[in-house]
Amino acid sequence: MNRVVEDRTVPPHTVIAIDGPAGSGKSTTARALAERFDLLYVDSGAMYRALTWAALDRGQSFADEAGLLAMFTAADLQLDPARRETRVFWDGKDISDQVRTPAIEANVSAVAAHPAIRAAMVERQRSFARRRGVVMEGRDIGSVVFPLASAKIYLDASLAARAERRLNQHRRRGNETEFETVLAEVEARDNRDSSRAESPLSIPPDAVVIDNSRLSLDEQLERTAEAVITVLDEQRPRSLTAASLSSRVTIRYKFAYAVFGPLSRILGLTIHGREHVEFDEGKILAANHVSNLDPPMLAASLEGMGHFRAVAKEELFRFWPSRMIFKLLHSIPIKRSIFDADAFDTAAEYLAEGQNVVFFPEGMRRVVGEPGPVRNGLGQLMMRTEAPAVPVFFRGTTVAVPGSSPNTPLEVTFAPPVRLRALAALRNRLDDRGISRLIAQLFDQIYLELQARSFARTPMTTEERESADRARPKVLRKEAKTFRREKS
Ligand code: DC
Repeated sequence: MNRVVEDRTVPPHTVIAIDGPAGSGKSTTARALAERFDLLYVDSGAMYRALTWAALDRGQSFADEAGLLAMFTAADLQLDPARRETRVFWDGKDISDQVRTPAIEANVSAVAAHPAIRAAMVERQRSFARRRGVVMEGRDIGSVVFPLASAKIYLDASLAARAERRLNQHRRRGNETEFETVLAEVEARDNRDSSRAESPLSIPPDAVVIDNSRLSLDEQLERTAEAVITVLDEQRPRSLTAASLSSRVTIRYKFAYAVFGPLSRILGLTIHGREHVEFDEGKILAANHVSNLDPPMLAASLEGMGHFRAVAKEELFRFWPSRMIFKLLHSIPIKRSIFDADAFDTAAEYLAEGQNVVFFPEGMRRVVGEPGPVRNGLGQLMMRTEAPAVPVFFRGTTVAVPGSSPNTPLEVTFAPPVRLRALAALRNRLDDRGISRLIAQLFDQIYLELQARSFARTPMTTEERESADRARPKVLRKEAKTFRREKS
């Protein structure tokens, strides 16, 4: 009989984020996925545990953020993903058993709550993925560490099921303890991890949520692996034929492309990730905003691919010539000082028809280098329509004048679409406002990530800094005026 070898290949830089509360089975699942897909497994919780161990060992106060940070940066922390449990080494000393004791579990959340500690951990966690693809488990992996992870899983289970598993783990290690004690400890730790101000445990809106309370381990692993494969497949761009594309462009848009296309070539626009904007379903193109040149460059970057509707501030529809352009392109006027139900209705209708809608979720032009904050409108639109949102990031549009800013790249970057896979689970826990906030926070992180990728190619230039310094006071004044009636 022929030997059949399963194809385990996933692209080499695949990043799989596994989040969930204590005892939800993250480690077992993440390790199994890493093995199956030949990726590096990283237990991010072990890093917070190691620092907690070192603090206890040296009598360092858990409240002293600077002291903890100094300890962490000076230490050589190594993780070795072994078969059963990640082995942890602090300055060469094997502390794998010490980091899994009740004393650590009682104090780790206090250490993990410090913003400076989290920033240092996140930096280190991201560095793993620079070398090769990873499966990383933790609390903020899909929301903060890798907001653009290739696939995100949120594991959950009832409190009783999770406490039972922790109890068994403790007993296997010889830590004698009672079910009630572990239950109380797990509950208290979840509360601390979910209520802290900095990167709390939350369900990433685009994660696949798997509740494994009633699943056997095998079922759970199978379900998770299937979910990952499905998501990777869904996120893979499919190329459309030139003929099918051009037939979708209306005369009005052909006209717009004829103007903006050549302009973008004169300015030297580079387009990244255009394949993520397939014109096969209504998508929200959710773009950061720094300059009036953003919409024309977006149009230019979609040349020949179809048409779209842009949601634009109503002020632009008042006077010629902007009025003529925005009307010609069937843009959607929006009032920003109130919740503009008409604008949302129109955008939702277009999306339902399968058209793409451009939306600037920051609500106004912001400062170069400081994207966000994303406002609640994007989440409201996504929840209502369940349309996927392609993150779009502009760079260089504030300083793009032919011949005068050769150092700053003029770029538009498209990221893979964000789909609200976790909506049902989120609706069980949060109201619409809470879900919109989570979506906004995710996009804040995504813009920072896209910016970081661009700055890694070309660091922020002097002219960008100058344009940011000029814009900052104006942006703050305008923000106070435009959104004064919106409660945050
Ligand atoms: O996954 P774990 O139980 O080993 O994590 C230990 C603690 O570390 C957890 O209670 C909160 C913190 N943690 C975190 O804040 N962020 C992560 N990404 C991972 C863990």
